[in-house]
Formats: sequence, structure tokens, C-alpha cells
Amino acid sequence: MYVYIVMRVESTGAGDAKPWQDGGMPHDAMPRETITLRSPGEGEVLDFLSPLALAFSEPLSDEELANEVRHLEADRVVGAFDGDQQVGTAGAYTFRMTVPGGEVGAAGITIVGVIPTHTRRGILRQMMTWLVAQARERGEPVAVLGASEAAIYQRFGYGLGTLDSRFEIEPLRATFVHPVETAGRFRFVDTDEATRLFSAVYGSMRQGTPGVLARTEVLWRFGMAFDSQSARAGNGPKSLVILEEDGVPRAYAIYRVKADWGHHGPRNTLTAIEVVGVDADSEQAMWQWLFRIDLLGSIKAMRVRMPHPLQLQLTEPRRLNLTVGDGLWVRILDVDRALEARSYVGDGSLTFDLTDDFCPWNAGRWQLTVPGGGAGASVVAVAADEAGAGGTEPDLALDVSALSAIYLGGFTFAELSRAGRVTELRPGGIAAADAMFVTATKPWNSTPF
Ligand SMILES: CC(C)(COP(=O)(O)OP(=O)(O)OC[C@H]1O[C@@H](n2cnc3c(N)ncnc32)[C@H](O)[C@@H]1OP(=O)(O)O)[C@@H](O)C(=O)NCCC(=O)NCCS
Repeated sequence: MYVYIVMRVESTGAGDAKPWQDGGMPHDAMPRETITLRSPGEGEVLDFLSPLALAFSEPLSDEELANEVRHLEADRVVGAFDGDQQVGTAGAYTFRMTVPGGEVGAAGITIVGVIPTHTRRGILRQMMTWLVAQARERGEPVAVLGASEAAIYQRFGYGLGTLDSRFEIEPLRATFVHPVETAGRFRFVDTDEATRLFSAVYGSMRQGTPGVLARTEVLWRFGMAFDSQSARAGNGPKSLVILEEDGVPRAYAIYRVKADWGHHGPRNTLTAIEVVGVDADSEQAMWQWLFRIDLLGSIKAMRVRMPHPLQLQLTEPRRLNLTVGDGLWVRILDVDRALEARSYVGDGSLTFDLTDDFCPWNAGRWQLTVPGGGAGASVVAVAADEAGAGGTEPDLALDVSALSAIYLGGFTFAELSRAGRVTELRPGGIAAADAMFVTATKPWNSTPF
């Protein structure tokens, strides 16, 4: 069990109050206390979730809480205590995440909340420090999360690792340039079959798509394939459909339908939670099948990859009404191990100056060297005074959040540079870096956590 005692950090003064701080109350006016951090003991995980209802101003149902407890690992949950009162919670899942040419261990930060009487006193900062230390101890070179408000995490060095989009289209507008024919058969399955068959399809997609998280049986059974009354939010039950050819799973869909039988006829809304195929044709066949379900007025999809194949498959892609948002926030915890875990294009080397306030062991000058073939990269720290000797002049300079946004291939150095977040220090340095980091497939994450 991890137990840390955290003393209240001195504020630098009332002038530091940020606009989002409660009523503009300066840090110094707030009472000081000793905050203790610890993991739950035997059977305590459920109790440790109690601050979340106040933090999110939304209680979780008993069903949702029980499900959450199933997924969580007790020693990866941390509670912040003011005396006997628990005032904060955070935790991490143990994930394997696909990166270009391989995969890494990733800490999936989750259940983050501090109750309103104790916000803006550094409690999240302390819990985040605890989670980072534990992830590094476990050999995880990156952390990932989905943010309620991205501003919270960018200051901790998280970068926009994947984009997330949603769309809404009228089925009549969903016509394909090249409709596909399938010899396969569609059938509804139950949770048991979905857990077995969907995971095979997902597993084949996962290999070629950076950002995708490996799913355990528990995550399938009590997550993606799980249905609950409270999760329906006015929609119908979860439908689980498989497309098989010769008994081999080719694509699946998880969706709900909200019935709407108005005066002018049916206008049901189908919300696709996840549609995945082993190849382009199988996935298109599944979308074609969904678009033809009777009585629909509209079809929505959430957390879809960006760019989406339907943008190139439909006759009128604008009718998708695509909305793009932020997906997975990625945080490189150990720059050398994280960069060594992925592959690159060709061979070459890149020297860069990295700033990292929250994880200062990453700050400094690094040299990435890739031998022929793009795999087997090595990353070493280079002393700044070695510059000039042996070609260690830096090509570029950036902050860890920028490098984290580039890591999975979601953004390029050139794009970060246009946003003022990468500085080129040697002419051609950015183009050379992009030539090494380029990836064939944009990263995506569709696992909510
Ligand atoms: C988000 C939350 C956990 C922050 O906890 P906290 O203990 O107040 O955070 P800290 O005091 O450690 O703040 C750390 C830094 O982040 C900043 N910060 C915290 N919340 C922020 C927000 N919502 N927007 C912008 N910045 C924020 C703080 O100002 C502080 O910056 P500083 O170090 O420069 O002073 C808490 O406000 C909360 O529970 N919110 C509602 C639930 C939620 O959104 N959870 C996150 C789920 S992904």
C-alpha cells in the first residue's frame, strides 16, 4: 500500500488567485491543513469513491459504483484525507496501449475528484504526483486520460494525443459511393458472445492503430458489452450485433435506439457506441446495415476515429455533421523509455531540448537515434555543454506536452510549430523530425474510462 504524508504547500500570496478559484478567494485566506494520502485497504474501494458524487455534482448509481469497483485495482486508487474526512480520490488503470510499431504500458488516470470545500489547495497536484511515482515504479512510461476540462491537465504536461469525433446523419443521406456486398450474416448476440467475438475483431484493429487500449475480459463484460438502466439515459437497451463470414467474426456494432414515435411518424435515433471491422469492407458493411434499420430519423455516433472512413465512403460527407473534439490526453512520464517503445521511419537522429516542470527528470537535452529499419531506437541524455562536439546541437526545442501530442502520431512537429509550441533550432530540423515520426494511421481511442 502506498501512503504519503503531504504537507500544505506555502502559497506565494493573494495575488496568485486564478479566475477559476472559488469566488476569487486567495490561497492564503484558506485554512491550512495536513492532507494524508493512502490507498484503500481490504474492501474499502467503494468507500473511496465517495468524494466523486460531490466533486461531479452527480451521484453515481449503486450499479455504476459496483461496476467501477470491479474495474479498479485497490493499490492503484488513492484517497486524500483531511483528518478522518476523505476529500479527494484518484486512480489509475493498468493499460497496454498501441504505439507506432509496438505497445507500451500506460497508466489510465481515472476517478479524479476533489470535493468543493477543498479544491484549489494543491490536492489534485499531490494525488497526481503519487500516481506518476507509482506508474514509473511499475515501468509505465506514459499516462493517459480523458479530461472533463483539458485545462486541468495541460498544466501537468498532458498533450492532445488523439482526436475524437462524433456525427449525426439522416439515414436517407447516408448513401455510399461504392456500396459493398457482404456474403456474411448479421446476428444479435448476448454479453457472453460479445465478450468473446467482439474482442477478436477489436484485437485485430488494435494492432495497427496507435492509441488503442487493450481490453481485458472484465472490461468487455462489465464495460463495453454491459448494460444498465442508469446508463440508458432515456435510450433503449444496448444492442450487440456481429457480422460473420463463414463463422468468422468480421465486424461488430454496439448501439442503442431511442424511440420517438411522433404525430408525423417514427423518428427514432440510433446512437452507435462502437463500430469496428477487421478491414474497410467489413466495417462499411456494418455501417450500411445500421443505416438501413427501419424507423430511424437519425443516426449518431460517438468517439469515432478522425479522420473517419465514412468521410471518403459517403456521397455527401458533409451530411455527417462531424464535430471534432479532444480524445485521449497523453503524458510522457519517462521520455527515453517512451520514445524507445515506438518505431520510426528510416534511420537518423534527432536532438531536442525538452522542458518539463512537473516531471523534471525529463528536462534537458536528448538525442534519439534510429538505426536502419525504423525499430530499435535509443534515446540518451546529452549534456548541454557537449553541444557542437559530435553533432549534438539541438534540432528543436519543445515542452513535454507538445512531445506527448506528437507521440502517437496525432499531430506533427510542423503542426505544433505552427501553434507556437515547437521551436526549430536548426534549419530543416522540424522537417527531419516529421520524416522520422510520420505514421500511416492516425491514433484513436474508443475506450471510455
Ligand atoms: C479538477 C479537480 C480534481 C482539481 O482539484 P484541485 O485539488 O482543486 O486541483 P489543484 O489545487 O491540485 O490544482 C492544480 C492546478 O490545476 C489548476 N486547476 C485545477 N482545476 C482546474 C480547472 N478546472 N481548470 C483550470 N485549472 C485548474 C489549479 O489552479 C492548479 O494550478 P497551479 O498549480 O498553477 O496553482 C477538482 O476541481 C474537481 O474535482 N473538479 C470536478 C470533477 C472533475 O472535473 N474531475 C476531473 C475529471 S477528469
